[in-house]
Amino acid sequence: MDTLHITGGQPLEGEIRISGSKNGTLPLLAASLLVEGETVISNIPDIQDVGTMIQMLRALGARCTFIAPGELRVDASNITSVAPPYDLVRAMRASFYVAGSLISRFGEAEVPLPGGCVIGARPVDYHIMGFKALGAEVQDRHGVMYARAGRLRGADILLDGQTRSVGATVNIMLAAVLAEGTTVIENASREPEVVCCESFLRACGADIQGMGSSRLVIKGVDKLHPGQGRAIPDRMETGTFLVAGLVTRGDVTLTGVHTEQMAVVIRELLKAGAQIDRTPETIRLRNRVRPNAIEISTGPFPGFPTDLQPNMAVVGAIGVGTSVIEETIFDMRFSYTDELVRMGAEIQLKDRLAIIKGVEKLYGAPVVATDLRAGSALVLAALCAEGQTEISGAGHLDRGYENLEGKLTALGAKVHRERHAIEEALC
Ligand code: UD1
Repeated sequence: MDTLHITGGQPLEGEIRISGSKNGTLPLLAASLLVEGETVISNIPDIQDVGTMIQMLRALGARCTFIAPGELRVDASNITSVAPPYDLVRAMRASFYVAGSLISRFGEAEVPLPGGCVIGARPVDYHIMGFKALGAEVQDRHGVMYARAGRLRGADILLDGQTRSVGATVNIMLAAVLAEGTTVIENASREPEVVCCESFLRACGADIQGMGSSRLVIKGVDKLHPGQGRAIPDRMETGTFLVAGLVTRGDVTLTGVHTEQMAVVIRELLKAGAQIDRTPETIRLRNRVRPNAIEISTGPFPGFPTDLQPNMAVVGAIGVGTSVIEETIFDMRFSYTDELVRMGAEIQLKDRLAIIKGVEKLYGAPVVATDLRAGSALVLAALCAEGQTEISGAGHLDRGYENLEGKLTALGAKVHRERHAIEEALC
């Protein structure tokens, strides 16, 4: 993977446009498989996970054509396979979404169990429980899920896990839209990315009530018709650049955002001392001093997003006083803290808590990004650290950030990518 070299200490200043959401786009692409005909999806970010999902749709027989930048036409009239290739599925967990669409429309799917970021146990048992409740026969044969069904039948499904599951809500919803009868999903995820998928399905003729609530009522229809979907702005990219403005003591303006969806993040950044001006689609953050200590606990929407938790650790690392972060969604999501400690952060882990004693400064060091969101925390730490940081494993960032170096450079950051194409080609 490539290495990023960042020279820190430069206040980030200027304006950038936030891209479409990774986690919003992936369900839309999977949902397009439900439609016998053409759909058009816009505001698609140019990132690796989206590329992987498009490759997967093509491998299943869908015709995918970009008709404008960020605007994709998917024609799923002639699906030729219900078995996506393992190489693509293992690259990201959201690839499992195709299972719901394939079982729903074709009554069968053979989908390898998924990969994705290494952030703790990430089973798919709720997804499978949902498929079974809808009448599918499901078997796990050597790491491949084989599901068979006639037409699925609506059912009452309670997602009663420790926390709400985004992925299971999306997958079960995709399976239910073409089922016979009514499905009720209780304790459904309320994430804006899930609502984005609900809107798209409705635009294609699905009958879904309770959008954005934790109780979805889905009346199965015989067919979906062509329709249009639009990915929401990326909440994680928005949060990352806001934190970048805060920790570099800069002045950044983000356009094309959905400010209301960022409410909990804005609230915590205000507590940390940021000055924030906002309109429904723009956020300007200014800061000139060391941030205040923070205290956050992650949770399903409308709680604080776990994907931005590593970023907030950087705020705590240079904050005045002691910060506490509680991670309630994933059990291994503090692994990046070892790398922050290499840069001078003082962090102690205790079960699901990170206790961070703020220091005056972080210092550049060679560090390794082990997953996408860990990588973004290291970029933020590097931007505010004294000296140069070398982040290896930078390829993880390409899964979720569109044109990261370009946007950072536009804000005045000193960042340079060292490409390792030759070594990779030899592997
Ligand atoms: C999605 C997001 C990811 C985000 C996460 C939580 C996408 C592509 N990814 O991941 O960026 O960090 O939501 O907001 O949108 N669980 C089970 N069994 C299951 C499913 C989930 O035990 O069948 C557990 C997970 O281990 C985790 C929790 O439920 O502890 C929440 O996971 P989930 O919301 O499903 O995360 P993802 O959909 O994988």
